[in-house]
Amino acid sequence: MALGRLLHGAPHADTPGQTIGPARTYEAFVEVFFAGQRRRAYTRLVELSGARTGDRVLDVGCGTGYLTRLVAKAVGPAGQAVGVDPSPTVIEYARKKSHGAACAYETGVAEALQAPDGSFDVVVTSLAIHHIPAELRPAAMGEMFRVLRPGGRLLLADFRPPRSRVVRHLVGSLTGPAMEHNPVDELDRLAAQAGFAVRGRGDVHPWLRYVHAVRPEVAR
Ligand SMILES: C[S@@+](CC[C@H](N)C(=O)[O-])C[C@H]1O[C@@H](n2cnc3c(N)ncnc32)[C@H](O)[C@@H]1O
Repeated sequence: MALGRLLHGAPHADTPGQTIGPARTYEAFVEVFFAGQRRRAYTRLVELSGARTGDRVLDVGCGTGYLTRLVAKAVGPAGQAVGVDPSPTVIEYARKKSHGAACAYETGVAEALQAPDGSFDVVVTSLAIHHIPAELRPAAMGEMFRVLRPGGRLLLADFRPPRSRVVRHLVGSLTGPAMEHNPVDELDRLAAQAGFAVRGRGDVHPWLRYVHAVRPEVAR
């Protein structure tokens, strides 16, 4: 848990979600945690999101903006990637790192997004759902649904606890119980309850489970 305490930010007035504090420490941790496979894994997430040239994409719980910057490459200068996160320190870091890219960043929370209805073609989120308290996840999913245009695409990705109990426990002792016991199988249900049509699910090596879904053209 010592590492978890080192990574986590001060409590945020707008959300009980667990925010990330020191951006550089987080970046160093994630690079080690992914053992050199972060770029490949996140590039795969971008492919799975279906983001394409000219799309407007929202990255919810964007942290340091790693995924947001890869999305910006996929959508090109005709599109835009917008990252939102409650932690001002990671948002400041993401802005500096994204200089010159088609990215914009805002502080904000998943459960009360500031964007207008139907204003995005794609919503992505990586490793953030387990930071949002369980009772707020339906509201967060409802917001992702609201800001997507009908026909818009959703890509949820979160930490898949290792199958080995020993490794799971090791991860938990380093980062905290939210990762050790992350109920990643619930991503499907969360998406469906918000009104999304789930199109598929799977794992991205080494640590991620994803679900991709569509906001139906006609409300169900
Ligand atoms: C483990 S980090 C993941 C960051 C980034 N998406 C990535 O894949 O590296 C989880 C992020 O969720 C953010 N977070 C916490 N509560 C949140 C909330 N209520 N709404 C949106 N993001 C939240 C944290 O500040 C943190 O940056």
